[in-house]
Amino acid sequence: MAILVTGGTGFIGSHTVVQLLNDGREVVIVDNLCNSKLCVLDRIKSITGKDVKFYKADLLDFEAIDKIFKENDIDSVIHFAGLKAVGESVQKPMLYYHNNITGTLNLTKAMADNGCKKIVFSSSATVYGNPKSVPIKEDFPLSTTNPYGETKLMIERILSDIVKSDPEWSVSILRYFNPIGAHESGLIGEDPKGIPNNLLPYIVKVASGKYDHLSVFGNDYNTHDGTGVRDYIHVVDLANAHLKALDRAAIVTGVEHFNIGTGNGYSVLDIVKAYEKATGLTVKYEIVARRPGDIDACYADPTKAYEVLGWKAQYDINKMCQDSANWQKKNPDGYGE
Ligand code: NAD
Ligand code: UD1
Repeated sequence: MAILVTGGTGFIGSHTVVQLLNDGREVVIVDNLCNSKLCVLDRIKSITGKDVKFYKADLLDFEAIDKIFKENDIDSVIHFAGLKAVGESVQKPMLYYHNNITGTLNLTKAMADNGCKKIVFSSSATVYGNPKSVPIKEDFPLSTTNPYGETKLMIERILSDIVKSDPEWSVSILRYFNPIGAHESGLIGEDPKGIPNNLLPYIVKVASGKYDHLSVFGNDYNTHDGTGVRDYIHVVDLANAHLKALDRAAIVTGVEHFNIGTGNGYSVLDIVKAYEKATGLTVKYEIVARRPGDIDACYADPTKAYEVLGWKAQYDINKMCQDSANWQKKNPDGYGE
């Protein structure tokens, strides 16, 4: 019995594959490599000592996905594959809707056709829009502000409707907060294309000298120091939540939603200081205007994940910063060409 990991060579997917292999589970990866590199498979092997079966295929190609199910005994799916850049989704909405929604429809059809009814889906805290309060619970109102977020919410609803139509399905929707860090080996990590949009990858580049300074987007938010507050979570903790979700899917049917965060909110300036402390490096910054669409504060109430899945984040902000810095130090150009 194998687990199909879509998007398994990507940032979160690769860390999850490592945890799955280390736990003795059989894995098959499918990825079209539109935002990841083949060498990730060698890195996974270096960490785990195991080969993993890989298909270079696009979820938009139904026949190719169906073939993977026909050729393997796949019992459950962890579905990471998707496009994730918020700004790009505003520029190219059709690309995002087609890739993320059609890709998921093809995947779930191939699953249904081949009798596989367990799926863990990568959703995002973005589905809470601008939350009415923090910490955020799973039953808070849902809304989105951009096509990327809309695809996440639509997929959540598609999966819920599938469960309504066939109660044998087991759907676990994991709403991630802000994943950062890297595997402590420094062999796998986040390798954003071009100039990073997200905070930690940008800080890492400033501290390593690639960029002169960080632009802090606004210091007039309703937070303890005026800068935006988020719930940063170590990617290995996040990866481990998927193993717990799979275990639960093996014993229950229906759809469940879980916040996957630490429950701690850190401001932009908190993160700058934490990175400096963890690494001894300097992060120069300047306060600039707010980034359109940003919110004051977003952090999880992760109680449900603990009570139902038995999952809790283990790593603190110091470890997240150290592991991000280690990945950067060992791979100044990411995975390279
Ligand atoms: P990533 O881009 O590193 O990984 C996604 C992988 O999916 C890539 O390897 C890409 O090549 C592949 N892919 C995309 N479209 C595909 C398609 N049509 N067919 C086959 N493969 C395809 O992203 P990530 O950070 O690892 O995120 C994984 C998932 O988690 C995504 O669905 C993302 O939306 C979600 N998520 C990420 C974050 C975050 O901050 N990283 C936060 C919340 C949710
Ligand atoms: C981003 C995504 C969101 C996704 C989330 C988790 C956007 C607009 N939103 O949100 O959909 O669910 O990541 O991955 O991309 N900041 C700076 N300077 C920078 C970069 C960021 O000050 O150069 C600040 C931001 O204003 C924010 C905080 O740092 O307050 C975190 O930003 P970011 O890493 O982009 O994450 P989110 O805004 O939470």
